[in-house]
Amino acid sequence: MPFVRRVRVRNFRSLADCDVSLGPLTVLLGFNASGKTNFLDALRFVADALASSPQRAVEGRGGLEALLHRAQAGAAESFEIWVDLGLRLPGVDCDVAASYGFEIGRYPDTQTPLLVLREAGVVQLSGGPLQLPLDVARHSARLRLPASTIDDESPQAVLETTLRSMRFYELDSTVLRALDEQGTGKASLGSSGEHLGRVLGDLARVDELGKERLDAYLSALVPGALGVDERREGRYSTVQARFQAGDGGGVEVFLREELSEGTLRAAGVLAALFQPPVSAGRVPLVAIEEPETALHPAGVGALYEALDDASARTQVIVTSQSSDLLDNEHVRLEHLRAVANIDGVTRIGKVDAAGRAVVDKGLMSISELHRSGQMRPELPDAVRQSAGGRHC
Ligand SMILES: Nc1ncnc2c1ncn2[C@@H]1O[C@H](COP(=O)(O)OP(=O)(O)O)[C@@H](O)[C@H]1O
Ligand SMILES: [Mg+2]
Repeated sequence: MPFVRRVRVRNFRSLADCDVSLGPLTVLLGFNASGKTNFLDALRFVADALASSPQRAVEGRGGLEALLHRAQAGAAESFEIWVDLGLRLPGVDCDVAASYGFEIGRYPDTQTPLLVLREAGVVQLSGGPLQLPLDVARHSARLRLPASTIDDESPQAVLETTLRSMRFYELDSTVLRALDEQGTGKASLGSSGEHLGRVLGDLARVDELGKERLDAYLSALVPGALGVDERREGRYSTVQARFQAGDGGGVEVFLREELSEGTLRAAGVLAALFQPPVSAGRVPLVAIEEPETALHPAGVGALYEALDDASARTQVIVTSQSSDLLDNEHVRLEHLRAVANIDGVTRIGKVDAAGRAVVDKGLMSISELHRSGQMRPELPDAVRQSAGGRHC
């Protein structure tokens, strides 16, 4: 079962009012500027606000004015993010339903630019629901969930830690290729792809099968590639890749400066999905922005298989604009959420009835439906009538 089962967002950038269900694997599909990144960022905001503070999470996004939904009628006064979760508690066999969220808004006088207007959390324990005591203090810009954590195994602490452990990736090939000072302890892949070499080294040491799996996917994604490994250079760590040599049989090693953007990004995506913290169960969710970027179109379909495979160990969410990604036998309509920007408002939903019918009748494959531009979100009735079927 997935960690985040449902996300409701109001007035966060282009997300005026969204209610999205998520499964173990979710692919958010939509044109440029439809609001895919805004949706992932709403989820990331929860992790950031818990890890630092709402103030910092807002400042890191250009301030409250930039975040509050703007419409013709004016700008919203507050935004809300609420998540429904499946939580793994110590000593409990199955996931426990939980929910958490908050509303953040403007402060009436400008001393403090923002205020937590509401915060609530519930954990459905077997003895009955536990309402977390998160009563918002008046005039506070702080969240209560982290402040109230005393016992590491309390439902409250587990809720906070698990939300903070979600990982969000927007990979950057310059970062993936960088020399990384060797640290102590186990590395996890940074959000732009930091520590790729160390992560691959750790993986080879602690999870040999996982490393083989990663290398096998890499060869499916990148023609001629055999694998990607950590390379130590003095006190630095970085990456190198093995390729089939042109004359058959032999193996040629390419150093970090020689690796193509496609190879690096494929390695980054696979490291995000199969890194040791994920297989150890410490990462409840991995979100990756446009994982197909710079990949050879022939390899993009195989990427779907890697996403599907990883979703057995952690919840996976990706954004994409690619029909090629959907060209794979593992693709299921229920994995997909169509994202559209209709009159400046992001709508996210399951593929609509017309699209589903086309696929069910075998008139088009899922990737053909996407390529033909007919993959649209199912809209709530009220929106459908007022939008008159317009999409952009
Ligand atoms: N505060 C806001 N109010 C309304 N729309 C916004 C706000 N901030 C950003 N947007 C809109 O969000 C869109 C960008 O969404 P984004 O998530 O980056 O799209 P995608 O990732 O699908 O390309 C743009 O159309 C932009 O105008
Ligand atoms: Mg985007």
